[in-house]
Amino acid sequence: MTSWTSFEIGTDGADAPTLVFAGDDALFVPDALRTRVAAGIESTGFDAKPGRWLDLVGEAGERVVIVGVGGGDSPDRWRNAGGHLVDATRALRVDVVRLPAAAELGIEAALADLLEGVLLHGFRLDQGRGDPVPGQFASTLHVAAGDAALVEQARLRADPVNRARAWVEQPANLLTPAVFADEAGAALEPLGITVRQLGPAELEALGAGGILAVAAGSANEPRLTIAEWRGAPERDGWDAAFVGKGLTFDAGGLNLKPRPGIAKMKFDMAGGAAVLGAVERLARRKAAANVVAIVPMCENNIDGKSYRPGDVITSLAGLTIDVQDTDAEGRIVLADAVTYAIREYDPGTIVDVATLTGMVMGVLHEDFAGLFTSDDRLAASLTAAGAAAHEPLWRLPLVASMDYLVESPVADVSNLGAPGWFGAGGGSPVAGAKFIEKFAKGRCWAHLDIAGVGWATRRSSRSGPGATGFGVALLDQWIDLAARA
Ligand code: BES
Ligand code: MN
Ligand code: ZN
Repeated sequence: MTSWTSFEIGTDGADAPTLVFAGDDALFVPDALRTRVAAGIESTGFDAKPGRWLDLVGEAGERVVIVGVGGGDSPDRWRNAGGHLVDATRALRVDVVRLPAAAELGIEAALADLLEGVLLHGFRLDQGRGDPVPGQFASTLHVAAGDAALVEQARLRADPVNRARAWVEQPANLLTPAVFADEAGAALEPLGITVRQLGPAELEALGAGGILAVAAGSANEPRLTIAEWRGAPERDGWDAAFVGKGLTFDAGGLNLKPRPGIAKMKFDMAGGAAVLGAVERLARRKAAANVVAIVPMCENNIDGKSYRPGDVITSLAGLTIDVQDTDAEGRIVLADAVTYAIREYDPGTIVDVATLTGMVMGVLHEDFAGLFTSDDRLAASLTAAGAAAHEPLWRLPLVASMDYLVESPVADVSNLGAPGWFGAGGGSPVAGAKFIEKFAKGRCWAHLDIAGVGWATRRSSRSGPGATGFGVALLDQWIDLAARA
């Protein structure tokens, strides 16, 4: 099982160094420590900005670490502070710390956010090194026993994100499609989610020609994994289907990727991990919604059995696909998965999440996922959810006048965008969305291109460098906002 470590959170640690917080114009400190902390800040000129901390050691060796939390009242402030708490304890090499009761600190409303930040920033995938990496030892944070319920709330939010991140960071030799599917079942079934997986024979019987074509060049068999959460059993039908791209590795196929990018491509199942994580979060908070996650899992590799550029294949929907580039495989497997979602679930809304195009990164960088939909209300609700979850979306065009982007002279649709006068159109994120739109059949549907945000080179309030789990919090938030509307 893909496993990760993070900060341990307990309710003991009476003798451990105490953590307190200082903001631009407020101290979050128990009364008993207030004078000492204020004096320490005064005498050192400590500037309580996020990312700074002050270590105070008393005469008897008793220790207080002051973590800067800056100003403002953004809901993200305390999640960020949780991350800086992690950095501070690691940098100071203290492996057990304690937090006074939230009520004593005056942060009752923020403690769950803070602990979520601790769990998200404490995340590390166990990569199996013999020598521990310096500064990366196990750490424990103790909170007051009365705050235990808030610890559970933080775990409920952070664990599904960290599970998604662990899957994304797990190397492709260890996380094959079959392993990914089995692990999804093992992780989600105990939460009351029904998980099914279809293998090659079932996909063949179904006619899922897209998934089978992409998977043909790999020794690792494909899977179509389906995870159902029925949180509103009194209602028939399905509120939403979340479809996630699950390429456990994308070598590009015969249109082989060049170095060094190819070495990053274990991350190409980040969309699949995100939709599974979202459904996990819905189940853990017992959300009153009926949602299914559908993840086509396969590997795009190079072999004598690989599908070829120029092949025409028949998708599950029956539409023929002109394969102009075997590296534009994500849209092909998503096409079959979206068709499966429509046929088997008739969902109210479909949202697909995919590391679809490198080009989206050249515009939205690591800061926004590209949002494509022709439904303005869906665009608005997803954008609002993204803003609330701090997983922001930026809408890009998806209009009928650009249908020509995916026209083919020989088949119903081409998997490569029209090059245009300058030849740059092929890798277009819009063309990717246009392709999937053909299979969404006019349904209420949106596509999120997370190629830029699925993996981070910089820290954010939600994660350090590495897999981000982008989409888990957003999709959960979107269901939550819809329930409140
Ligand atoms: N998984 C890639 C997208 C990708 C590329 C993500 C680089 C992150 C970094 C996807 O399958 C792909 O190869 N897309 C091609 C599409 C093109 C051939 C139309 C791309 O972006 O180059
Ligand atoms: Mn590709
Ligand atoms: Zn890909």
